[in-house]
Amino acid sequence: MTKKIYNFSAGPAVLPRPVLERAQAEMLDWQGSGMSVMEMSHRGKEFMEILAKTEADLRQLMNIPKNYNVLFLQGGAIAENAMIPMNLLNGGEADYVVTGAWSKRSVEDARAYGKINVIASSEADKFTHVPAYSSWQLHHDAAYLHICTNETINGVEFDGLPDAGSVPIVADMSSHILSRPVDVSRYGVIYGGAQKNIGPAGLCIVIVREDLLDRASPITPAVFNWKTQSENQSMINTPPTYSIYIAGLVFEWLLAQGGVDAIEQVNIKKANLLYNYIDSTDFYANHVVVSNRSRMNIPFFLADESLNDAFLKGADAQGLLQLKGHRMVGGMRASIYNAMPIEGVETLIQYMKAFESAH
Ligand SMILES: Cc1ncc(COP(=O)(O)O)c(C=O)c1O
Repeated sequence: MTKKIYNFSAGPAVLPRPVLERAQAEMLDWQGSGMSVMEMSHRGKEFMEILAKTEADLRQLMNIPKNYNVLFLQGGAIAENAMIPMNLLNGGEADYVVTGAWSKRSVEDARAYGKINVIASSEADKFTHVPAYSSWQLHHDAAYLHICTNETINGVEFDGLPDAGSVPIVADMSSHILSRPVDVSRYGVIYGGAQKNIGPAGLCIVIVREDLLDRASPITPAVFNWKTQSENQSMINTPPTYSIYIAGLVFEWLLAQGGVDAIEQVNIKKANLLYNYIDSTDFYANHVVVSNRSRMNIPFFLADESLNDAFLKGADAQGLLQLKGHRMVGGMRASIYNAMPIEGVETLIQYMKAFESAH
């Protein structure tokens, strides 16, 4: 029997238990093939079947329109920070909104490729909100508008989406993709690293509108070119096959839970439980404005920071793991992705209450 724990890591993060059990059962022999998925040729019939089903299930879960391509790439979300300007900028300018550490990083990575305008930022307010859409200085001739719709480190999530007119919105959804319904048709590009709500690290999913595939700078290497990757089923290089396989199992699991609409209800419940408790006491605090509080990543701070080590040690002893906040922010952070059961959040709150009483 493995020890009962709850894993609050921001990523790589908890995966659904039934997915891990299925992967374990299929580890040595995938469906009578005699091979582990890890051992299969990416162009073989078995893996092509896995890839096709994984893409079909993702399309169903996110209701992805036909005029969008789905890519399964290596390099994580940070690699996309460079691929986005390589594929879309081509001598133009792009608008970026900075709402936390990840979108700030996206700006820094993009600057090498052309003119990047930061049209709104909440940095002066320590990334505690998304700047009001009415304050954004949008350029109507920008090549694209980049946003990060859920800031994993700061716990800031978009509430709705601004109207960018005909400028394509490019969104980093790494840490809340599939946690709530999204109208894909409102975006030009959606991307996300897999290691939070989708599967193991090593895979980045890019959903790109077809008409944006002709804008790459001519020096874009084939492996980073979304059009070339689209024309080659993400196989201009060897894709991260095992990560894709696990992502496929997660998609099947999510469909069996009732899909994104159903999991959203659970996510709302989990987040409300934790925020309501934090707000009910002066012992803990979360500083993000209520309408931008992330349902996935919940940073919180003890009023007496000298108790941080004792809090983490006690949590660890009870099997409540990886609650330490990001080094940039400090304090604590509970990441409660789709695969975190509600019991995990309830157990965390019980521990927080007991810790408060004891101190
Ligand atoms: C919102 C967001 N963007 C980008 C990244 C970077 O992802 P990766 O390390 O996979 O490149 C992370 C990661 O942890 C993230 O949470």
